[in-house]
Amino acid sequence: MERIDEYICRYKNYNFGCSTTTEHIDTLETFHVRDSDIFVVTYPKSGTVWTQQIVILICELDGGLNDYPNNMEQMPWLEYPEGRQDYSLRPSPRLFNSHLSPALMPPELKEKKGKIYVMRNPKDNVVSFHHFSQICADLESPRTFTETLERYLEGNVGAGRWFDHIRAWCATRDQYNILFLTYEEMVLDLRAAVIKICSFLGNNLSEAAIKEVVHKSSFKTMKEDKKANYRFVPKERLSGDFLRKGKIGDWKNVFSVAQSERFDQIFQEQMADMDLKFIWDSAEQKEEP
Ligand code: A3P
Repeated sequence: MERIDEYICRYKNYNFGCSTTTEHIDTLETFHVRDSDIFVVTYPKSGTVWTQQIVILICELDGGLNDYPNNMEQMPWLEYPEGRQDYSLRPSPRLFNSHLSPALMPPELKEKKGKIYVMRNPKDNVVSFHHFSQICADLESPRTFTETLERYLEGNVGAGRWFDHIRAWCATRDQYNILFLTYEEMVLDLRAAVIKICSFLGNNLSEAAIKEVVHKSSFKTMKEDKKANYRFVPKERLSGDFLRKGKIGDWKNVFSVAQSERFDQIFQEQMADMDLKFIWDSAEQKEEP
């Protein structure tokens, strides 16, 4: 791994947090993917732990899962060898999170079904990242939002540039059979998102079970749920709440007008050819039917 700075390492043209190794990333090339595996992939701060909770609940209620002390152990990060577990020994269904780009995912994944990609409007994404950087010891804590924004736009952050991640995953749309979801649609109608995930994964949950998933993955319930809210992470590594605001449009409280205009221009330049429709504002949220 090439060390970019204290917090970011680089390998195969991709940025990582420094708690992984080249050997571990190389093992992914021959990682055997089972038909029943489920992967939730995101650019960081797009709703990963939220989708993680939903998928865990769906699987628990439809046939059961082995019990693990918390969601991170239940659904580990593929690219970080926490505890160096041998995943081939895990019973099915195995659940994984990842922030990897498609080029680094296990090649067998292409033919398998269980893939969900969640994206979030990048203005809220960078604001969430800014706040998270202040509480997470594995990330540099920029003094100002301006500093965070510069690093984010340059891709000088753990998962590289948001624009590249979204573009790379959207480009796999036709080959990979992925369920694409947005954070915003989950905020607007969590029940509809849960049903979408169930039907994509082929889980047949009763109405009562769907209700339970929705209840247990609501912001309020998750914030109090010790298995789901990451308060199990030692304070030295994470000194605040993983679940912060959970809203659409918080960027308006943080971006200056000039920053917003510049961001819009960069977004246009980078993504104009892509058919991406984000909800940027909580007012748009209310106007939805
Ligand atoms: P905010 O910082 O804007 O509140 P990730 O899991 O990818 O790191 O994303 C974290 C973001 O998802 C945080 O956003 C967090 O609050 C939000 N989030 C997590 N669970 C949520 C839920 N049940 N409902 C709404 N937002 C949620």
